[in-house]
Amino acid sequence: MTLPIAPFPANRPRRLRRTDWMRDLVRENDIKASDFIWPIFIMDGTDASEPVPSMPGVERLTIDRAVIAANEAANLGIPVVALFPYTDANLKTPECEEAYNPENLANRATRAIKSAVPDIGVMLDVALDPYNSLGHDGIVHEGEILNDQTLMILERQALSHAEAGADILGPSDMMDGRVGIIRRALEQNDLSHVAIMAYSAKYASAFYGPFRDAVGATGALTGDKSTYQMDAGNSDEAMRMIARDLDEGADMVMVKPGQPYLDICQRVNTEFQVPTFAYQVSGEYAMIEAASANGWVDRDKIIMESLMAFKRAGCAGILTYYAREVAEKLSQPF
Ligand code: PBG
Repeated sequence: MTLPIAPFPANRPRRLRRTDWMRDLVRENDIKASDFIWPIFIMDGTDASEPVPSMPGVERLTIDRAVIAANEAANLGIPVVALFPYTDANLKTPECEEAYNPENLANRATRAIKSAVPDIGVMLDVALDPYNSLGHDGIVHEGEILNDQTLMILERQALSHAEAGADILGPSDMMDGRVGIIRRALEQNDLSHVAIMAYSAKYASAFYGPFRDAVGATGALTGDKSTYQMDAGNSDEAMRMIARDLDEGADMVMVKPGQPYLDICQRVNTEFQVPTFAYQVSGEYAMIEAASANGWVDRDKIIMESLMAFKRAGCAGILTYYAREVAEKLSQPF
């Protein structure tokens, strides 16, 4: 695209960069609290929290404290919290029965938040890794991750989460056919209002390491997730995954990780006119925190810059561990 731009000196782009107010006036993208989905780690117990060592500043919260956090988030204008359960090791099995237990941690937390803070959306992951003694997102048999057997369990998990009151389901397992199965199950069970945000372009990534610590999946996992999550070298394949998930009934799609896959975010936003989200994942968070703790980068600025990148790439919103902190900052008069 060639734009009609006057030659220098008639055109001096620095005129629009001279002052704060001028930069504010012409800025193309903005970050607001309503862009955020805030992931929260949940654990059993009462009135307690414990730090996640590989994610400094992030804590696992008991349900009562998660309710308080969700209330704060709602007051700050954050539209959605995404809950991730830290499941007790002795509830994890190879068949992942806990995934669809109506009384599991995720379902109890969802009910508590939806009744205490009705105005915030609750999103739950659909994947077996928090419940799998073998650490994978699907059922493992002789070292293989079984697709179709996993779908049957994901369907039950999705229904139990929707029945507990989850507003958005996020299939993050990367099994083939899962979005269609979940959408059909929701329709058949009077749960057609529940939205699906598909983790469509989800890459097999080393950037998830700290998250697996946070949900207690690190020790359990043998091997990696490269037989179901995407290969880092692929971009066209991501477009096919997005198209497939939309075709199967996804309402929104996600790219994950975020910053290392900004090209994918932009491509999805250009090629599909659907709400597209990016997940600024645990490894991205940990890198910012580690460099900041060493005094190597300006923490506040790098957080805002990293979030702005997603908006510039066209994303409708961002899943970020910084949601509360940044929403709080944005709410302060300047
Ligand atoms: C589970 C899941 C993962 C994340 C979100 N849901 C980990 C994985 O797939 O191994 C990662 C989030 C993060 O790293 O912040 N399927």
